[in-house]
Amino acid sequence: MRRLASYMKRYKLFYVIALLMISGSITLDMFNPYLIKRIVDEVIIDGQVHLFSMIITALVAITISRSIFGYIKEYSFDLSASRIIMELRQDMFNHIQKLSFSYFDKTNTGELMSRIKDDTENILNALAFGIMLLIEQSLYFIVASILLFTLNWKLALLTVLIMPILAYIAVNLERKVGETYGKISDQRAALNTTAQENIAGVRLVKAFGREKFEIRKFLKQNRYNYRLNMEQAKVWSKYYPKIEFLSNVVLVMVITVGGFFVIGNEMTLGTLVAFGNYIFMLIWPMRMIGWITNIIAQCYASIKKVEKIFEEEPHIKEPDKPVRPEKFMGHVVFKDVSFEYNGITVLKNINIDVRPGTTIAIMGMTGAGKTSLINLIGRFYDVSSGNVYIDGIDVRNMDLNVLRSNISIVMQDVFLFSDTIEENIKFGVKDVLSEEFISASKDSKVHGFVSKMPYKYKTLIGERGVGLSGGQKQRISISRALLRDSKILILDDATSSLDMDTEYEIQKSLNERKGMTKFIIAHRVSAVKNADEIIILEDGEIVERGNHQQLINLKGRYYDIYNHQFGSMTLYDNEEVV
Ligand code: UTP
Ligand code: MG
Repeated sequence: MRRLASYMKRYKLFYVIALLMISGSITLDMFNPYLIKRIVDEVIIDGQVHLFSMIITALVAITISRSIFGYIKEYSFDLSASRIIMELRQDMFNHIQKLSFSYFDKTNTGELMSRIKDDTENILNALAFGIMLLIEQSLYFIVASILLFTLNWKLALLTVLIMPILAYIAVNLERKVGETYGKISDQRAALNTTAQENIAGVRLVKAFGREKFEIRKFLKQNRYNYRLNMEQAKVWSKYYPKIEFLSNVVLVMVITVGGFFVIGNEMTLGTLVAFGNYIFMLIWPMRMIGWITNIIAQCYASIKKVEKIFEEEPHIKEPDKPVRPEKFMGHVVFKDVSFEYNGITVLKNINIDVRPGTTIAIMGMTGAGKTSLINLIGRFYDVSSGNVYIDGIDVRNMDLNVLRSNISIVMQDVFLFSDTIEENIKFGVKDVLSEEFISASKDSKVHGFVSKMPYKYKTLIGERGVGLSGGQKQRISISRALLRDSKILILDDATSSLDMDTEYEIQKSLNERKGMTKFIIAHRVSAVKNADEIIILEDGEIVERGNHQQLINLKGRYYDIYNHQFGSMTLYDNEEVV
Protein backbone atom coordinates (compact mmCIF):
# COMPACT_ATOMS: atom_id res chain seq x y z
CA MET A 1 0.00 0.00 0.00
CA ARG A 2 2.75 2.38 0.97
CA ARG A 3 4.45 1.68 -2.32
CA LEU A 4 1.32 2.58 -4.26
CA ALA A 5 0.88 5.75 -2.23
CA SER A 6 4.39 6.83 -3.13
CA TYR A 7 3.57 6.45 -6.83
CA MET A 8 0.31 8.34 -6.36
CA LYS A 9 2.07 11.20 -4.62
CA ARG A 10 3.86 12.02 -7.83
CA TYR A 11 0.50 12.72 -9.45
CA LYS A 12 -0.87 14.87 -6.65
CA LEU A 13 -1.78 17.65 -9.04
CA PHE A 14 -3.95 15.37 -11.15
CA TYR A 15 -5.77 14.17 -8.07
CA VAL A 16 -6.38 17.71 -6.87
CA ILE A 17 -7.80 18.66 -10.27
CA ALA A 18 -9.94 15.53 -10.34
CA LEU A 19 -11.26 16.24 -6.84
CA LEU A 20 -12.20 19.78 -7.83
CA MET A 21 -14.01 18.42 -10.86
CA ILE A 22 -15.88 15.86 -8.78
CA SER A 23 -16.94 18.54 -6.30
CA GLY A 24 -18.03 20.78 -9.19
CA SER A 25 -20.07 18.01 -10.83
CA ILE A 26 -21.77 17.07 -7.60
CA THR A 27 -22.66 20.65 -6.78
CA LEU A 28 -24.17 21.08 -10.25
CA ASP A 29 -26.00 17.75 -10.01
CA MET A 30 -27.63 18.88 -6.82
CA PHE A 31 -29.22 21.78 -8.68
CA ASN A 32 -31.03 19.54 -11.15
CA PRO A 33 -33.76 18.18 -8.87
CA TYR A 34 -34.13 21.65 -7.35
CA LEU A 35 -34.73 23.20 -10.78
CA ILE A 36 -37.20 20.43 -11.66
CA LYS A 37 -39.02 21.14 -8.42
CA ARG A 38 -39.32 24.78 -9.47
CA ILE A 39 -40.68 23.79 -12.89
CA VAL A 40 -43.35 21.64 -11.22
CA ASP A 41 -44.26 24.03 -8.41
CA GLU A 42 -43.79 27.44 -10.02
CA VAL A 43 -44.15 26.92 -13.76
CA ILE A 44 -46.71 24.12 -13.99
CA ILE A 45 -48.76 24.57 -10.82
CA ASP A 46 -48.45 28.35 -10.26
CA GLY A 47 -48.36 29.11 -13.99
CA GLN A 48 -45.33 31.41 -13.90
CA VAL A 49 -44.47 30.54 -17.50
CA HIS A 50 -41.88 33.31 -17.83
CA LEU A 51 -39.57 31.32 -15.49
CA PHE A 52 -39.61 28.31 -17.78
CA SER A 53 -37.03 29.45 -20.33
CA MET A 54 -34.69 30.65 -17.58
CA ILE A 55 -34.82 27.33 -15.73
CA ILE A 56 -34.36 25.36 -18.95
CA THR A 57 -31.32 27.53 -19.82
CA ALA A 58 -29.91 26.82 -16.38
CA LEU A 59 -30.51 23.08 -16.88
CA VAL A 60 -28.74 23.16 -20.26
CA ALA A 61 -25.84 25.14 -18.80
CA ILE A 62 -25.53 22.64 -15.98
CA THR A 63 -25.55 19.72 -18.39
CA ILE A 64 -22.82 21.25 -20.54
CA SER A 65 -20.58 22.26 -17.62
CA ARG A 66 -21.08 18.87 -16.06
CA SER A 67 -19.88 17.15 -19.22
CA ILE A 68 -16.75 19.30 -19.28
CA PHE A 69 -16.05 18.61 -15.61
CA GLY A 70 -16.67 14.93 -16.18
CA TYR A 71 -14.27 14.87 -19.10
CA ILE A 72 -11.46 16.54 -17.14
CA LYS A 73 -12.08 14.25 -14.17
CA GLU A 74 -11.97 11.06 -16.25
CA TYR A 75 -8.93 12.27 -18.10
CA SER A 76 -7.02 13.09 -14.89
CA PHE A 77 -7.81 9.73 -13.33
CA ASP A 78 -7.06 7.74 -16.48
CA LEU A 79 -3.86 9.57 -17.23
CA SER A 80 -2.46 9.33 -13.71
CA ALA A 81 -3.55 5.69 -13.37
CA SER A 82 -2.02 4.69 -16.69
CA ARG A 83 1.24 6.42 -15.84
CA ILE A 84 1.41 4.93 -12.37
CA ILE A 85 0.83 1.47 -13.77
CA MET A 86 3.45 1.98 -16.44
CA GLU A 87 5.97 2.99 -13.78
CA LEU A 88 4.96 0.21 -11.42
CA ARG A 89 5.15 -2.42 -14.16
CA GLN A 90 8.54 -1.10 -15.26
CA ASP A 91 9.89 -1.07 -11.71
CA MET A 92 8.62 -4.60 -11.20
CA PHE A 93 10.24 -5.75 -14.41
CA ASN A 94 13.51 -4.05 -13.46
CA HIS A 95 13.36 -5.69 -10.07
CA ILE A 96 12.72 -9.12 -11.57
CA GLN A 97 15.79 -8.60 -13.76
CA LYS A 98 17.88 -8.14 -10.63
CA LEU A 99 16.77 -11.36 -8.99
CA SER A 100 19.12 -14.30 -8.87
CA PHE A 101 19.01 -17.68 -10.56
CA SER A 102 17.76 -19.25 -7.33
CA TYR A 103 14.57 -17.14 -7.45
CA PHE A 104 13.75 -18.38 -10.94
CA ASP A 105 14.49 -21.95 -9.85
CA LYS A 106 11.55 -21.75 -7.46
CA THR A 107 9.15 -19.47 -9.36
CA ASN A 108 7.35 -20.48 -12.50
CA THR A 109 6.92 -18.25 -15.49
CA GLY A 110 3.11 -18.28 -15.54
CA GLU A 111 3.02 -16.88 -12.05
CA LEU A 112 5.35 -14.02 -12.89
CA MET A 113 3.37 -13.31 -16.08
CA SER A 114 0.21 -12.96 -14.01
CA ARG A 115 1.91 -10.51 -11.67
CA ILE A 116 3.12 -8.37 -14.55
CA LYS A 117 -0.16 -8.52 -16.46
CA ASP A 118 -3.23 -9.34 -14.35
CA ASP A 119 -2.22 -7.83 -11.06
CA THR A 120 -1.09 -4.55 -12.52
CA GLU A 121 -4.41 -4.43 -14.37
CA ASN A 122 -6.31 -4.88 -11.13
CA ILE A 123 -4.38 -2.02 -9.62
CA LEU A 124 -5.06 0.04 -12.72
CA ASN A 125 -8.80 -0.58 -12.36
CA ALA A 126 -8.76 0.61 -8.79
CA LEU A 127 -6.77 3.73 -9.63
CA ALA A 128 -8.76 4.56 -12.74
CA PHE A 129 -12.32 3.89 -11.47
CA GLY A 130 -12.35 2.35 -8.01
CA ILE A 131 -10.98 5.27 -6.07
CA MET A 132 -12.80 7.81 -8.23
CA LEU A 133 -16.14 6.09 -7.70
CA LEU A 134 -15.50 5.69 -4.01
CA ILE A 135 -14.92 9.41 -3.54
CA GLU A 136 -17.66 10.45 -5.92
CA GLN A 137 -20.35 8.14 -4.58
CA SER A 138 -19.54 8.91 -0.94
CA LEU A 139 -19.88 12.62 -1.66
CA TYR A 140 -23.15 12.09 -3.51
CA PHE A 141 -24.49 10.14 -0.58
CA ILE A 142 -23.52 12.69 2.04
CA VAL A 143 -24.67 15.78 0.15
CA ALA A 144 -27.92 14.19 -1.10
CA SER A 145 -28.77 12.97 2.42
CA ILE A 146 -28.34 16.49 3.81
CA LEU A 147 -30.55 17.92 1.07
CA LEU A 148 -33.21 15.26 1.61
CA PHE A 149 -33.36 16.10 5.30
CA THR A 150 -33.78 19.77 4.56
CA LEU A 151 -36.59 18.99 2.08
CA ASN A 152 -38.58 16.72 4.40
CA TRP A 153 -36.91 15.08 7.38
CA LYS A 154 -39.60 12.45 7.96
CA LEU A 155 -39.44 11.09 4.45
CA ALA A 156 -35.65 11.40 4.50
CA LEU A 157 -35.42 9.41 7.73
CA LEU A 158 -37.55 6.65 6.24
CA THR A 159 -35.33 6.46 3.17
CA VAL A 160 -32.06 6.59 5.02
CA LEU A 161 -33.18 3.82 7.37
CA ILE A 162 -33.60 1.39 4.48
CA MET A 163 -30.18 2.17 3.04
CA PRO A 164 -28.17 0.01 5.48
CA ILE A 165 -30.15 -3.05 4.34
CA LEU A 166 -29.24 -2.28 0.75
CA ALA A 167 -25.62 -1.71 1.73
CA TYR A 168 -25.58 -4.92 3.78
CA ILE A 169 -26.68 -7.00 0.80
CA ALA A 170 -24.23 -5.25 -1.51
CA VAL A 171 -21.33 -5.75 0.88
CA ASN A 172 -22.23 -9.39 1.37
CA LEU A 173 -22.24 -9.79 -2.35
CA GLU A 174 -18.81 -8.23 -2.53
CA ARG A 175 -17.43 -10.48 0.21
CA LYS A 176 -18.62 -13.64 -1.52
CA VAL A 177 -17.44 -12.41 -4.92
CA GLY A 178 -14.10 -11.41 -3.38
CA GLU A 179 -13.61 -14.91 -1.96
CA THR A 180 -14.12 -16.55 -5.33
CA TYR A 181 -12.09 -13.85 -7.02
CA GLY A 182 -9.01 -14.81 -4.99
CA LYS A 183 -9.43 -18.41 -6.10
CA ILE A 184 -10.03 -17.37 -9.70
CA SER A 185 -6.91 -15.26 -9.78
CA ASP A 186 -4.70 -18.08 -8.40
CA GLN A 187 -6.34 -20.48 -10.76
CA ARG A 188 -5.79 -18.18 -13.71
CA ALA A 189 -2.06 -18.19 -12.97
CA ALA A 190 -2.12 -22.00 -12.96
CA LEU A 191 -4.04 -22.05 -16.22
CA ASN A 192 -1.48 -19.68 -17.73
CA THR A 193 1.38 -21.90 -16.65
CA THR A 194 -0.24 -25.01 -18.09
CA ALA A 195 -0.95 -23.36 -21.42
CA GLN A 196 2.43 -21.68 -21.60
CA GLU A 197 4.38 -24.83 -20.75
CA ASN A 198 2.37 -26.86 -23.19
CA ILE A 199 3.00 -24.44 -26.02
CA ALA A 200 6.68 -24.10 -25.18
CA GLY A 201 7.00 -27.88 -25.02
CA VAL A 202 4.67 -28.63 -27.91
CA ARG A 203 7.31 -30.55 -29.84
CA LEU A 204 7.99 -32.82 -26.91
CA VAL A 205 4.27 -33.40 -26.42
CA LYS A 206 3.81 -34.35 -30.05
CA ALA A 207 6.92 -36.49 -30.12
CA PHE A 208 5.63 -38.52 -27.21
CA GLY A 209 2.08 -38.56 -28.53
CA ARG A 210 0.95 -36.98 -25.27
CA GLU A 211 -1.58 -34.59 -26.81
CA LYS A 212 -4.52 -36.34 -25.17
CA PHE A 213 -2.85 -36.25 -21.81
CA GLU A 214 -2.08 -32.54 -22.18
CA ILE A 215 -5.61 -31.84 -23.38
CA ARG A 216 -6.97 -33.62 -20.33
CA LYS A 217 -4.64 -31.65 -18.07
CA PHE A 218 -5.78 -28.40 -19.63
CA LEU A 219 -9.42 -29.48 -19.60
CA LYS A 220 -9.19 -30.13 -15.86
CA GLN A 221 -7.80 -26.67 -15.25
CA ASN A 222 -10.25 -25.09 -17.63
CA ARG A 223 -13.20 -26.86 -16.00
CA TYR A 224 -12.07 -25.74 -12.60
CA ASN A 225 -11.84 -22.21 -13.93
CA TYR A 226 -15.38 -22.57 -15.28
CA ARG A 227 -16.64 -23.87 -11.94
CA LEU A 228 -15.11 -20.91 -10.13
CA ASN A 229 -16.64 -18.49 -12.61
CA MET A 230 -19.99 -20.18 -12.16
CA GLU A 231 -19.60 -19.95 -8.40
CA GLN A 232 -19.13 -16.24 -8.85
CA ALA A 233 -22.09 -16.01 -11.21
CA LYS A 234 -24.27 -17.80 -8.66
CA VAL A 235 -23.35 -15.28 -6.02
CA TRP A 236 -24.32 -12.49 -8.39
CA SER A 237 -27.60 -14.11 -9.33
CA LYS A 238 -28.44 -14.65 -5.68
CA TYR A 239 -27.73 -11.13 -4.46
CA TYR A 240 -28.29 -8.90 -7.44
CA PRO A 241 -32.09 -9.33 -7.74
CA LYS A 242 -32.39 -8.55 -4.02
CA ILE A 243 -30.57 -5.28 -4.52
CA GLU A 244 -32.72 -4.48 -7.52
CA PHE A 245 -35.90 -5.30 -5.62
CA LEU A 246 -34.98 -3.22 -2.61
CA SER A 247 -34.05 -0.21 -4.74
CA ASN A 248 -37.54 -0.27 -6.25
CA VAL A 249 -39.18 -0.78 -2.87
CA VAL A 250 -37.49 2.40 -1.63
CA LEU A 251 -38.81 4.34 -4.58
CA VAL A 252 -42.36 2.99 -4.31
CA MET A 253 -42.37 3.67 -0.58
CA VAL A 254 -41.20 7.23 -0.97
CA ILE A 255 -43.79 7.92 -3.67
CA THR A 256 -46.56 6.37 -1.57
CA VAL A 257 -45.69 8.07 1.70
CA GLY A 258 -44.69 11.27 -0.13
CA GLY A 259 -48.00 11.16 -2.03
CA PHE A 260 -49.86 11.19 1.27
CA PHE A 261 -47.74 14.13 2.44
CA VAL A 262 -48.57 16.03 -0.76
CA ILE A 263 -52.28 15.28 -0.37
CA GLY A 264 -52.06 16.36 3.26
CA ASN A 265 -50.31 19.55 2.09
CA GLU A 266 -47.26 18.69 4.16
CA MET A 267 -45.06 19.14 1.09
CA THR A 268 -45.41 20.39 -2.47
CA LEU A 269 -45.59 18.14 -5.51
CA GLY A 270 -42.35 19.66 -6.80
CA THR A 271 -40.58 18.70 -3.59
CA LEU A 272 -41.76 15.11 -4.02
CA VAL A 273 -40.44 15.06 -7.60
CA ALA A 274 -37.12 16.52 -6.41
CA PHE A 275 -37.09 13.94 -3.62
CA GLY A 276 -37.49 11.15 -6.15
CA ASN A 277 -34.48 12.50 -8.01
CA TYR A 278 -32.26 12.92 -4.97
CA ILE A 279 -33.06 9.41 -3.82
CA PHE A 280 -31.16 7.98 -6.75
CA MET A 281 -28.11 9.76 -5.41
CA LEU A 282 -28.48 7.61 -2.30
CA ILE A 283 -29.46 4.38 -3.97
CA TRP A 284 -26.61 4.36 -6.47
CA PRO A 285 -23.81 4.62 -3.95
CA MET A 286 -25.41 1.80 -1.95
CA ARG A 287 -25.76 -0.39 -5.01
CA MET A 288 -22.23 0.34 -6.09
CA ILE A 289 -20.68 -0.27 -2.71
CA GLY A 290 -20.28 -3.94 -3.59
CA TRP A 291 -18.65 -3.23 -6.89
CA ILE A 292 -16.37 -0.52 -5.60
CA THR A 293 -15.20 -2.50 -2.60
CA ASN A 294 -14.67 -5.43 -4.91
CA ILE A 295 -12.38 -3.45 -7.18
CA ILE A 296 -10.53 -2.10 -4.19
CA ALA A 297 -10.28 -5.55 -2.59
CA GLN A 298 -8.90 -7.02 -5.80
CA CYS A 299 -6.44 -4.18 -5.99
CA TYR A 300 -5.43 -4.78 -2.39
CA ALA A 301 -4.87 -8.49 -3.03
CA SER A 302 -2.86 -7.68 -6.15
CA ILE A 303 -0.76 -5.10 -4.36
CA LYS A 304 0.12 -7.69 -1.74
CA LYS A 305 1.24 -10.12 -4.44
CA VAL A 306 3.21 -7.46 -6.28
CA GLU A 307 4.73 -6.33 -3.00
CA LYS A 308 5.99 -9.88 -2.43
CA ILE A 309 8.00 -9.67 -5.62
CA PHE A 310 9.50 -6.35 -4.56
CA GLU A 311 10.37 -7.84 -1.17
CA GLU A 312 12.32 -10.58 -2.91
CA GLU A 313 15.97 -9.67 -2.47
CA PRO A 314 18.54 -10.86 -4.97
CA HIS A 315 20.57 -13.58 -3.25
CA ILE A 316 23.60 -12.46 -5.14
CA LYS A 317 24.34 -9.02 -3.85
CA GLU A 318 26.64 -6.35 -5.13
CA PRO A 319 29.53 -6.09 -2.60
CA ASP A 320 29.61 -3.04 -0.32
CA LYS A 321 32.97 -1.97 -1.69
CA PRO A 322 33.08 -3.45 -5.16
CA VAL A 323 36.57 -4.04 -6.49
CA ARG A 324 37.10 -3.08 -10.11
CA PRO A 325 40.39 -4.56 -11.28
CA GLU A 326 42.31 -2.29 -13.62
CA LYS A 327 43.15 -5.08 -15.95
CA PHE A 328 41.16 -8.25 -16.07
CA MET A 329 43.43 -11.20 -16.77
CA GLY A 330 41.09 -14.14 -16.25
CA HIS A 331 43.09 -16.17 -13.73
CA VAL A 332 40.46 -18.38 -12.11
CA VAL A 333 41.13 -20.20 -8.86
CA PHE A 334 38.72 -22.38 -6.88
CA LYS A 335 39.95 -22.87 -3.32
CA ASP A 336 38.31 -25.58 -1.20
CA VAL A 337 34.98 -24.82 -2.81
CA SER A 338 31.87 -26.58 -1.65
CA PHE A 339 28.42 -25.78 -2.88
CA GLU A 340 24.92 -26.86 -1.99
CA TYR A 341 21.42 -26.31 -3.33
CA ASN A 342 18.96 -26.06 -0.47
CA GLY A 343 21.10 -28.12 1.86
CA ILE A 344 22.06 -30.80 -0.68
CA THR A 345 25.79 -30.80 -1.34
CA VAL A 346 26.63 -30.93 -5.05
CA LEU A 347 30.28 -29.84 -5.02
CA LYS A 348 32.92 -30.81 -2.46
CA ASN A 349 36.47 -29.57 -1.95
CA ILE A 350 37.02 -28.28 -5.43
CA ASN A 351 40.51 -26.91 -5.97
CA ILE A 352 41.44 -25.73 -9.42
CA ASP A 353 43.84 -23.16 -10.77
CA VAL A 354 43.23 -22.04 -14.32
CA ARG A 355 45.91 -19.66 -15.46
CA PRO A 356 45.09 -16.89 -17.93
CA GLY A 357 44.89 -18.13 -21.46
CA THR A 358 44.75 -21.81 -20.55
CA THR A 359 41.95 -24.28 -21.07
CA ILE A 360 40.37 -26.51 -18.50
CA ALA A 361 38.01 -29.27 -19.49
CA ILE A 362 35.41 -30.68 -17.16
CA MET A 363 33.99 -34.12 -17.72
CA GLY A 364 31.69 -36.24 -15.66
CA MET A 365 28.44 -38.08 -15.67
CA THR A 366 25.19 -36.22 -15.86
CA GLY A 367 24.36 -34.64 -12.52
CA ALA A 368 28.00 -34.73 -11.42
CA GLY A 369 28.02 -30.98 -10.80
CA LYS A 370 29.68 -29.60 -13.94
CA THR A 371 27.16 -26.82 -14.59
CA SER A 372 27.03 -26.03 -10.88
CA LEU A 373 30.80 -25.58 -10.88
CA ILE A 374 30.93 -23.11 -13.74
CA ASN A 375 27.87 -21.24 -12.37
CA LEU A 376 30.04 -20.17 -9.44
CA ILE A 377 32.49 -18.23 -11.62
CA GLY A 378 30.05 -15.54 -12.72
CA ARG A 379 28.30 -15.68 -9.33
CA PHE A 380 25.05 -17.09 -10.66
CA TYR A 381 25.18 -18.81 -7.30
CA ASP A 382 27.59 -18.18 -4.45
CA VAL A 383 29.80 -20.86 -2.92
CA SER A 384 28.63 -22.43 0.32
CA SER A 385 32.21 -22.53 1.58
CA GLY A 386 35.65 -21.83 0.16
CA ASN A 387 36.44 -19.15 -2.39
CA VAL A 388 36.42 -18.49 -6.07
CA TYR A 389 39.11 -15.99 -7.02
CA ILE A 390 39.63 -14.18 -10.27
CA ASP A 391 42.99 -12.49 -10.56
CA GLY A 392 43.37 -12.92 -6.83
CA ILE A 393 40.08 -11.19 -5.98
CA ASP A 394 37.27 -13.15 -4.40
CA VAL A 395 34.43 -12.92 -6.92
CA ARG A 396 32.10 -11.90 -4.09
CA ASN A 397 34.12 -8.72 -3.69
CA MET A 398 34.25 -7.88 -7.34
CA ASP A 399 31.94 -5.43 -9.06
CA LEU A 400 29.21 -7.70 -10.39
CA ASN A 401 28.96 -5.91 -13.68
CA VAL A 402 32.71 -6.02 -14.28
CA LEU A 403 32.78 -9.68 -13.34
CA ARG A 404 29.96 -10.74 -15.63
CA SER A 405 30.98 -8.58 -18.53
CA ASN A 406 34.30 -10.37 -18.57
CA ILE A 407 32.71 -13.77 -18.86
CA SER A 408 31.15 -15.20 -21.99
CA ILE A 409 29.06 -18.23 -21.52
CA VAL A 410 27.35 -20.67 -23.80
CA MET A 411 24.73 -22.24 -21.65
CA GLN A 412 23.73 -25.84 -21.80
CA ASP A 413 20.15 -24.92 -22.73
CA VAL A 414 20.36 -22.74 -25.79
CA PHE A 415 17.93 -19.87 -25.76
CA LEU A 416 17.34 -17.67 -28.76
CA PHE A 417 15.05 -14.65 -28.82
CA SER A 418 12.35 -14.04 -31.41
CA ASP A 419 14.54 -11.68 -33.35
CA THR A 420 16.97 -11.72 -36.23
CA ILE A 421 20.05 -13.92 -36.18
CA GLU A 422 22.15 -10.77 -36.10
CA GLU A 423 20.44 -9.43 -32.97
CA ASN A 424 20.68 -12.83 -31.33
CA ILE A 425 24.42 -12.84 -31.88
CA LYS A 426 24.98 -9.23 -30.94
CA PHE A 427 22.65 -9.52 -27.95
CA GLY A 428 22.96 -5.96 -26.82
CA VAL A 429 26.65 -5.50 -27.66
CA LYS A 430 26.77 -2.16 -29.38
CA ASP A 431 29.38 -0.80 -31.72
CA VAL A 432 30.30 -4.15 -33.15
CA LEU A 433 32.71 -3.84 -36.01
CA SER A 434 31.69 -5.90 -38.97
CA GLU A 435 35.04 -7.75 -39.02
CA GLU A 436 34.61 -8.80 -35.39
CA PHE A 437 31.10 -9.93 -36.12
CA ILE A 438 32.07 -11.92 -39.18
CA SER A 439 35.09 -13.43 -37.46
CA ALA A 440 32.95 -14.59 -34.51
CA SER A 441 30.43 -16.02 -36.95
CA LYS A 442 33.09 -17.77 -38.97
CA ASP A 443 34.82 -19.19 -35.89
CA SER A 444 31.56 -20.61 -34.64
CA LYS A 445 30.65 -21.98 -38.06
CA VAL A 446 27.55 -19.78 -38.33
CA HIS A 447 28.62 -17.79 -41.34
CA GLY A 448 28.36 -20.67 -43.77
CA PHE A 449 24.78 -21.67 -43.16
CA VAL A 450 23.51 -18.13 -42.57
CA SER A 451 24.97 -16.96 -45.89
CA LYS A 452 22.72 -19.47 -47.62
CA MET A 453 19.59 -18.07 -46.00
CA PRO A 454 17.48 -15.65 -48.07
CA TYR A 455 17.74 -12.78 -45.57
CA LYS A 456 21.18 -13.76 -44.27
CA TYR A 457 21.80 -12.33 -40.79
CA LYS A 458 18.49 -10.47 -40.95
CA THR A 459 16.58 -13.77 -40.94
CA LEU A 460 13.99 -13.80 -38.18
CA ILE A 461 13.95 -16.79 -35.91
CA GLY A 462 11.09 -17.89 -33.68
CA GLU A 463 10.89 -17.85 -29.93
CA ARG A 464 12.87 -21.02 -29.68
CA GLY A 465 14.72 -20.69 -32.90
CA VAL A 466 12.11 -22.42 -35.02
CA GLY A 467 13.52 -23.30 -38.39
CA LEU A 468 17.02 -23.98 -37.09
CA SER A 469 18.60 -27.29 -36.27
CA GLY A 470 19.85 -27.99 -32.77
CA GLY A 471 23.44 -27.65 -33.94
CA GLN A 472 22.70 -24.37 -35.71
CA LYS A 473 21.21 -22.97 -32.54
CA GLN A 474 24.27 -24.07 -30.60
CA ARG A 475 26.53 -22.43 -33.13
CA ILE A 476 24.62 -19.16 -32.91
CA SER A 477 24.99 -19.17 -29.14
CA ILE A 478 28.72 -19.88 -29.47
CA SER A 479 28.95 -16.96 -31.87
CA ARG A 480 27.15 -14.78 -29.33
CA ALA A 481 29.74 -15.70 -26.71
CA LEU A 482 32.72 -15.21 -29.01
CA LEU A 483 31.57 -11.76 -30.08
CA ARG A 484 31.78 -10.53 -26.52
CA ASP A 485 35.47 -11.31 -26.66
CA SER A 486 35.77 -11.73 -22.90
CA LYS A 487 38.73 -12.94 -20.91
CA ILE A 488 36.84 -15.98 -19.70
CA LEU A 489 34.91 -18.26 -22.02
CA ILE A 490 32.69 -20.99 -20.71
CA LEU A 491 31.20 -23.63 -22.97
CA ASP A 492 28.72 -25.81 -21.17
CA ASP A 493 28.18 -28.82 -23.37
CA ALA A 494 28.08 -26.32 -26.20
CA THR A 495 29.13 -28.62 -29.01
CA SER A 496 27.08 -31.65 -28.05
CA SER A 497 24.78 -31.35 -31.07
CA LEU A 498 27.56 -30.82 -33.57
CA ASP A 499 29.11 -33.39 -35.81
CA MET A 500 32.74 -34.26 -35.14
CA ASP A 501 34.05 -32.24 -38.07
CA THR A 502 32.25 -29.03 -37.16
CA GLU A 503 33.21 -29.51 -33.53
CA TYR A 504 36.83 -29.95 -34.57
CA GLU A 505 36.73 -26.81 -36.73
CA ILE A 506 35.28 -24.77 -33.87
CA GLN A 507 37.85 -26.18 -31.43
CA LYS A 508 40.58 -25.20 -33.82
CA SER A 509 39.38 -21.59 -34.08
CA LEU A 510 38.99 -21.45 -30.32
CA ASN A 511 42.59 -22.54 -29.88
CA GLU A 512 43.62 -19.69 -32.11
CA ARG A 513 41.83 -17.22 -29.87
CA LYS A 514 44.65 -16.83 -27.39
CA GLY A 515 44.48 -14.85 -24.19
CA MET A 516 41.13 -16.37 -23.20
CA THR A 517 40.75 -18.60 -20.20
CA LYS A 518 38.48 -21.40 -21.34
CA PHE A 519 36.23 -23.76 -19.44
CA ILE A 520 34.96 -26.54 -21.61
CA ILE A 521 32.36 -28.97 -20.39
CA ALA A 522 32.05 -31.87 -22.78
CA HIS A 523 31.36 -35.56 -22.97
CA ARG A 524 33.53 -36.31 -25.97
CA VAL A 525 37.23 -36.96 -25.63
CA SER A 526 37.74 -35.24 -28.95
CA ALA A 527 36.43 -31.99 -27.45
CA VAL A 528 38.69 -32.02 -24.41
CA LYS A 529 41.90 -33.70 -25.35
CA ASN A 530 43.78 -30.50 -26.16
CA ALA A 531 42.93 -28.89 -22.84
CA ASP A 532 45.77 -27.99 -20.50
CA GLU A 533 43.99 -29.77 -17.71
CA ILE A 534 41.09 -32.17 -17.73
CA ILE A 535 39.18 -32.83 -14.54
CA ILE A 536 36.73 -35.63 -14.01
CA LEU A 537 33.90 -34.90 -11.60
CA GLU A 538 32.02 -37.60 -9.81
CA ASP A 539 29.29 -36.76 -7.32
CA GLY A 540 30.66 -33.27 -6.97
CA GLU A 541 34.26 -34.28 -6.35
CA ILE A 542 37.31 -34.24 -8.58
CA VAL A 543 38.31 -37.84 -8.97
CA GLU A 544 40.89 -37.54 -11.73
CA ARG A 545 42.91 -34.69 -13.15
CA GLY A 546 45.71 -34.10 -15.59
CA ASN A 547 46.21 -33.59 -19.29
CA HIS A 548 45.15 -36.07 -21.93
CA GLN A 549 48.33 -38.08 -21.89
CA GLN A 550 48.59 -38.19 -18.12
CA LEU A 551 45.02 -39.40 -17.81
CA ILE A 552 45.51 -42.02 -20.47
CA ASN A 553 48.55 -43.26 -18.60
CA LEU A 554 46.55 -43.31 -15.38
CA LYS A 555 44.25 -45.92 -16.92
CA GLY A 556 41.32 -44.72 -14.83
CA ARG A 557 37.93 -43.34 -15.74
CA TYR A 558 39.18 -41.07 -18.50
CA TYR A 559 40.98 -43.98 -20.05
CA ASP A 560 37.75 -45.97 -19.95
CA ILE A 561 35.83 -43.16 -21.60
CA TYR A 562 38.51 -42.83 -24.21
CA ASN A 563 38.49 -46.52 -24.91
CA HIS A 564 34.75 -46.60 -24.99
CA GLN A 565 34.53 -43.79 -27.52
CA PHE A 566 37.56 -44.91 -29.45
CA GLY A 567 36.37 -48.51 -29.30
CA SER A 568 32.99 -47.67 -30.73
CA MET A 569 34.69 -45.86 -33.55
CA THR A 570 36.81 -48.86 -34.48
CA LEU A 571 33.72 -50.98 -34.33
CA TYR A 572 32.05 -48.54 -36.66
CA ASP A 573 35.04 -48.66 -39.00
CA ASN A 574 34.99 -52.44 -38.97
CA GLU A 575 31.32 -52.45 -39.79
CA GLU A 576 31.99 -50.19 -42.71
CA VAL A 577 34.66 -52.52 -43.99
CA VAL A 578 32.21 -55.40 -43.80
P1 UTP B 1 24.49 -29.99 -12.44
O1 UTP B 1 23.51 -29.27 -13.24
O2 UTP B 1 25.66 -29.24 -11.95
O3 UTP B 1 24.97 -31.32 -13.17
O4 UTP B 1 23.74 -30.59 -11.19
P2 UTP B 1 25.80 -31.46 -14.52
O5 UTP B 1 27.05 -32.15 -14.18
O6 UTP B 1 25.90 -30.16 -15.21
O7 UTP B 1 24.88 -32.46 -15.33
P3 UTP B 1 24.58 -32.52 -16.89
O8 UTP B 1 25.67 -33.22 -17.56
O9 UTP B 1 24.40 -31.12 -17.36
O10 UTP B 1 23.34 -33.29 -16.94
C1 UTP B 1 24.41 -31.21 -10.12
C2 UTP B 1 23.40 -31.61 -9.07
O11 UTP B 1 22.77 -30.45 -8.57
C3 UTP B 1 21.39 -30.63 -8.55
C4 UTP B 1 21.08 -31.68 -9.59
O12 UTP B 1 19.99 -32.43 -9.20
C5 UTP B 1 22.31 -32.51 -9.61
O13 UTP B 1 22.19 -33.62 -8.73
N1 UTP B 1 20.73 -29.33 -8.89
C6 UTP B 1 21.03 -28.73 -10.06
C7 UTP B 1 19.83 -28.77 -8.03
O14 UTP B 1 19.55 -29.33 -6.96
N2 UTP B 1 19.24 -27.58 -8.36
C8 UTP B 1 19.52 -26.95 -9.53
O15 UTP B 1 18.96 -25.86 -9.79
C9 UTP B 1 20.45 -27.53 -10.39
MG1 MG C 1 25.05 -29.40 -16.88
